[in-house]
Amino acid sequence: MTALAGATLLAGTAIAAELNIVHGSVGRDQEILRAQLDKFEAETGHTVTIVSMPESTTDQFAQYKLWLAAQSSDIDVYRLDVIWAPQIETHFIDLMPHVEDIIGDFVPGAVESQMVGDKLVALPMFLGAPALYYRSDLLEKHGKAVPETWQEMTETARAIMEAERAEGNADMWGFVFQGAAYEGLTCNAQEWIVSFGGGRIVENDGTIGINNPQAAEALTMAASWVGDIAPDGVLNYKEEDARGVFQSGNAVFMRNWNYAYALGNGDDSPIKGNFGVRTLPTGGEGKPSAHTLGGWHLGVSKYSENQEEAIELVRFLNNYENQKERAIVTSRPPTLTAVYEDAEVAAEQEFIPLWKPVVDGALPRPSAATKRQYNEVSSEFWTAVHDTMSGNGTAEENLAKLEARLKRLKGAGW
Ligand code: GLC
Repeated sequence: MTALAGATLLAGTAIAAELNIVHGSVGRDQEILRAQLDKFEAETGHTVTIVSMPESTTDQFAQYKLWLAAQSSDIDVYRLDVIWAPQIETHFIDLMPHVEDIIGDFVPGAVESQMVGDKLVALPMFLGAPALYYRSDLLEKHGKAVPETWQEMTETARAIMEAERAEGNADMWGFVFQGAAYEGLTCNAQEWIVSFGGGRIVENDGTIGINNPQAAEALTMAASWVGDIAPDGVLNYKEEDARGVFQSGNAVFMRNWNYAYALGNGDDSPIKGNFGVRTLPTGGEGKPSAHTLGGWHLGVSKYSENQEEAIELVRFLNNYENQKERAIVTSRPPTLTAVYEDAEVAAEQEFIPLWKPVVDGALPRPSAATKRQYNEVSSEFWTAVHDTMSGNGTAEENLAKLEARLKRLKGAGW
């Protein structure tokens, strides 16, 4: 191969492209992506550079909007949060004509989440449905059952935390989760509220019913955790902060996404073999539990000068082999239905088939209902929750304010 001013001539055929893919990395995401990009480069002769983003999806969204508004051709492929499609679809090409031969293999709900009208904004890469991670060794040691309800979880967390501290384990906490003022808190708080019967932030038909006693009860409970079973610092915790505490052995329970499973069982993990997962607790007997739908998907920028190669890359990263590898190494739920049934995946990463029903039943955030306004809606919501947990107003006061703000945002309609 001869290098020609920035391009490479491949066996006398195509000119190799230089692509940029942008994504936010949590856990081992970037490491596995790089390994798969190396394979792509070897197979195609193209080169792909990773443009790395901060962990927080909220920070990523702010940066992406700047690039997209500037119609920047610097980024060819964006890894997009499941909630963004309705807000940024105009900046992305319609992938449907380029994936018609494979789209039937994908989990239908995942595809649905990336459709705006007839347009496929991003090809689903991996899904997310959280779990309650618990320290099985500590539950056993202290003779406690895996809790079913949030109330039981709170009591068990406190009892074990206090007993462990009394034994000299001064750094022990009861429960860690994502409590910072960002999108992750919206995911957590939607789960608490729905499990108490308080409904969605905005319902599917666009109505705003969030100012209700069940929602207030859920938020009051969450506020009571701060400084009791959860450290004050939880008000600044994102995914990796929570995992850091749990994986180092200093929390009894954790709410987190699927990626924490493989890492918790890694050879270097102090809690390897000593934790389990269950569905998130319910709001009480006869009440449901709820799991917010997460996931990240690959879109091709309309402003990319290498669209054809970018499409090739998106297809490659989402092919069977790569999804299977990602599922095994990172315990991220795949978007290809068949990978859930793969015997090797089941043998090497039992969490994937185990969590399939939870992923299937996961609850979307109201991004479709609130259309272009979702980010504002979510930001108002997490602010109300964060204020309540910080002791800045009661749940009732903050929900009343939230309702007024959402009504103003909605105006005559979403
Ligand atoms: C995870 C989810 C994503 C969500 C984010 C919130 O990355 O996959 O959908 O928005 O967490 O922190």
